[in-house]
Amino acid sequence: MRTHKCGELNKENLGEAVELCGWVHRRRDHGGVIFIDLRDRAGLVQVVFNPEAAETFAIAESVRSEYVLRVEGIVRDRLEGTINSNMATGEIEILVSHVEVLNESETPPFPIESDIEVNEEMRLRYRYIDLRKTSMLEKMKVRRDVTRHLRNFLDGQDFFEMETPILTKATPEGARDYIVPSRTHPNNFFALPQSPQLYKQLLMMAGMDRYYQVVRCFRDEDLRADRQPEFTQLDIETSFMNEDEIMTIMEEMVRQLFKDVLDVRLDDKFLRMTHEEAMSRYGSDKPDLRIPLELVDIAEEMKGVDFKVFSGPANDPKGRVAALRIPNGADLSRKDIDVYTKYVSIYGARGLAYIKVNDRYAGIEGLQSPIVKFAPAEVWEAVLEKTGAQTGDLIFFGADKTNIVNEALGALRVKVGLDLNLLDGDWRPLWVVDFPMFEWDEKALRWNAIHHPFTAPSCTEEELKANPGTALSRAYDLVLNGTEVGGGSIRINKTAMQSTVLDILGIGEQEANDKFGFLLEALKYGCPPHGGMAYGLDRLVMLMTGSSSIREVIAFPKTQSAACPLVSAPAPVSEEQLKELHIIMRKIAAKEEG
Ligand code: AMO
Ligand code: AMP
Repeated sequence: MRTHKCGELNKENLGEAVELCGWVHRRRDHGGVIFIDLRDRAGLVQVVFNPEAAETFAIAESVRSEYVLRVEGIVRDRLEGTINSNMATGEIEILVSHVEVLNESETPPFPIESDIEVNEEMRLRYRYIDLRKTSMLEKMKVRRDVTRHLRNFLDGQDFFEMETPILTKATPEGARDYIVPSRTHPNNFFALPQSPQLYKQLLMMAGMDRYYQVVRCFRDEDLRADRQPEFTQLDIETSFMNEDEIMTIMEEMVRQLFKDVLDVRLDDKFLRMTHEEAMSRYGSDKPDLRIPLELVDIAEEMKGVDFKVFSGPANDPKGRVAALRIPNGADLSRKDIDVYTKYVSIYGARGLAYIKVNDRYAGIEGLQSPIVKFAPAEVWEAVLEKTGAQTGDLIFFGADKTNIVNEALGALRVKVGLDLNLLDGDWRPLWVVDFPMFEWDEKALRWNAIHHPFTAPSCTEEELKANPGTALSRAYDLVLNGTEVGGGSIRINKTAMQSTVLDILGIGEQEANDKFGFLLEALKYGCPPHGGMAYGLDRLVMLMTGSSSIREVIAFPKTQSAACPLVSAPAPVSEEQLKELHIIMRKIAAKEEG
């Protein structure tokens, strides 16, 4: 149907007879001449209709936005003064000799050519139109480039691309499962995989040595800008490599990816930081290192003060008192501080104390704050010294349970950093290592795995049993600009250790056998040392395209309430289908009972 793509043409095609297909992006009538910007995936080209060719001209007069056309014509230079340097094909145009309307279009629900803000529900309802926008096409292109480069890299390193089942059994990654009823096994359900974790471990046990998969994962959890109920992982597993070797090759892959796709040079060696240090300095296990603000512990200084808000947590082993110095922050208004106080309350903080340092060397007189009166001058001097405060700075304080202070000041650090434009550098990758194995669940009164239950600890079985709370794991997360783009670990490869971990997690023998019996069994048949990681592909592409949400880089994402407005999913099913699946709806059952 066509000889070229619209967006590919340039001066080298001058004089050529071409045949193009595409959508009417924009139509302009100019004193008897009609110009149409014709659009296809490659871009736009201007096609021109002269009134002398009456029949083609009449068709051009009748077409509207988003009609699909096929044109034949000659490539010619644009007239002096009409060259459009914003357009790749801006130096040329096509003088049309023949046009065919391949299809008409109703007026689109929103314009494609302009960037006017359209409500997201509407965009998703008509996603096939939304995706026609150049900005969306660009994102899909980067996504294509990213997957292609990752595949190329891994193929080059002798990884096997392999598929694993989607209809499977629960894989614990900390979310709820999506379940699928079985017709052939009444009262039984498949679970969609939260990740291919157990299958990829089985592949290592099967001797596949190096595996990868670009794979859909399903998690029923609270959605945010960087979470979707179904999302894509680049999932990787290797045998006979330690964490250092795995991190090295994974880093190499990401470095090459950024070089090839964005022409960005990342650090030759990514920084590594322990989980403990990340929490202490940034209040987060995924710190955005572009923001040059740090939390400073001041519990020692505050233990003896009269101000209960500070002395309480300072003397509580589960408490934290921390300061966050904002250089030149004394310019912040009362209103700004109120906004930040409200912001930290989202994270459970009961207030946000602050001190403005009007004159660093005037003792207590130089400090402006409602809390200065609560502690003697030498305490404040020690705080100023510890935080490195200068005249003109502001210091925020958080005092509470450690996790509340970390979450509140950790989030505040990012917000203030962005608000005050403090970003230092464009790309700051970081490995976070030495995570604890478990965290104590205060409500359920039990240990939870920080990664998944198949992560190997860095200590012996005996040490793990004795001190589950302080044991560290052989896990590593890759963090980029405050987003966790990937995570992985060395896995447990011995039955005894796996049973110990399941036991600490409160999963008894019976339950362990029901849920993971196949894994425990497989561990007995010569399981090699193995480990790997998974990248959130959507998150990676979100960062690489500067998008504000992963929905922007997924062709057909779900809404915040986990629905698809385009096909109207989820949807009810027929009585017939329910019957086949042996399902009685609770509402119907209630009615029958009533
Ligand atoms: P994890 O649960 O950390 O590890 O997931 C790996 C990466 O997947 C991305 N991710 C998500 N992206 C979008 N929406 C979600 N709901 C979502 N959840 C996770 C994140 C995350 O870093 N099996 C292990 C990996 C391993 O140990 O090899 C796993 O799934 O970027
Ligand atoms: P109050 O004595 O309650 O008026 O608090 C004095 C100052 O301490 C106010 O600026 C509060 O915002 C702040 N504040 C109260 N609770 C906390 C807390 N848990 N952490 C940090 N600041 C707090």
